[in-house]
Amino acid sequence: MNSTQKLAERGAKVVMNTYSRFNIAFDHGEGMYVWDMDGKKYIDFVAGIAVNSLGHANKKLCEKIAEQSVKLMHVSNLYYTEPQITLAEKLCENSCFDKVFFCNSGAETIEAALKIARKYAAMKNKKGRDIIAMEKSFHGRTYGAVTATGQDKYHKGLEPLMPCIKHVPFNDFDALKNSVDENTCAILLEPIQGEGGIIPAKKDYIQKVRELCTQNDIILLFDEVQCGVGRTGTLFAYQTYGVEPDGACFAKGLAGGIPIGAFMAKDKLAEAFKPGDHASTFGGNPFATAAGNVVIDELLNGGLLNNVKKQGEALNKKLNDIKQKHSIVSDVRGVGLIQGIELTVPAKDIIANCIENGLLLVGAGENVIRFVPALIVSDKEINEAMDILDNAINRAEK
Ligand SMILES: Cc1ncc(COP(=O)(O)O)c(C=O)c1O
Repeated sequence: MNSTQKLAERGAKVVMNTYSRFNIAFDHGEGMYVWDMDGKKYIDFVAGIAVNSLGHANKKLCEKIAEQSVKLMHVSNLYYTEPQITLAEKLCENSCFDKVFFCNSGAETIEAALKIARKYAAMKNKKGRDIIAMEKSFHGRTYGAVTATGQDKYHKGLEPLMPCIKHVPFNDFDALKNSVDENTCAILLEPIQGEGGIIPAKKDYIQKVRELCTQNDIILLFDEVQCGVGRTGTLFAYQTYGVEPDGACFAKGLAGGIPIGAFMAKDKLAEAFKPGDHASTFGGNPFATAAGNVVIDELLNGGLLNNVKKQGEALNKKLNDIKQKHSIVSDVRGVGLIQGIELTVPAKDIIANCIENGLLLVGAGENVIRFVPALIVSDKEINEAMDILDNAINRAEK
């Protein structure tokens, strides 16, 4: 048994069995590559599921967190710290939002969004507290977030779920409009559904949803946990669509691998939270927000957004070339560096074959393979990954 298998065996004994893990144990990474405990090299098109936005062991990020860790790692949100305020300023100055609430994960940003939407309804003496979310959506695993998630498989055995959250088909404006009534206080959607199968919202759909919300004083919330922070080629995914929500959720790639979440809102909505209404011990500590500042600087000033646009097109073209060659690839979808291919067969075996041949990939539902590499990915790395994928699909077709 080699070192990676030995570690996997130790892990299976002591780590709770909530993931179907691969028998691989990673040791270190650099840029787009990671190495397992026995020195096998993999090209990483998972990036910790859209987290390692600057790749592995990014010099600027590592230096900044080393510097910040010896300066000040954590105090309480009872006080201000310079990295947190600077990050909040950058996020607000470069978006339509006025205020940030910092937390530590995507699910926590959803909790903030659900709570503030109901607080807003209470503040405005509105009748309803209902929240409408989308079928096939994914919002996380805390009780509110999992209730908002529109996939039954994540609900099994957890009932009773949170009351007054209902689901409608995504990208179907009439279905949404028909389910809105005087009890609706908020609508929550992912501009690009990630876990549900890389399904981008249609532009006219998003525009109509915005109009519907404005007309009825309904809070529009975007979950950009997976598709935000540069991944679509703009800093925030709503900017790619040209439609402003009232509040939005960011996490994953925001600090390049250090846990962080940011729920952002326009003042109209942010005002609904008063001191004591919501909190997080670790949220926005100087360590995590120092890392966030590096990522945002790279996106805005380091040319990273241009790289996402360029390489997003290159990846999409390569995936379409693969689709032309293989009848089991039925669709290519995505924006920027969040792309997916739909297959007529389960994705599992092809992903396993790619991993065997040194390419890390992750699925999105049964039949979709998702591509969410670090935002630094180059032509060479896309070509290398696509060759491995092409061969794996060839094998699956035989
Ligand atoms: C769109 C979306 N929202 C929320 C979450 C939950 O984020 P976390 O796992 O950080 O709680 C995820 C995680 O995959 C996600 O993709």
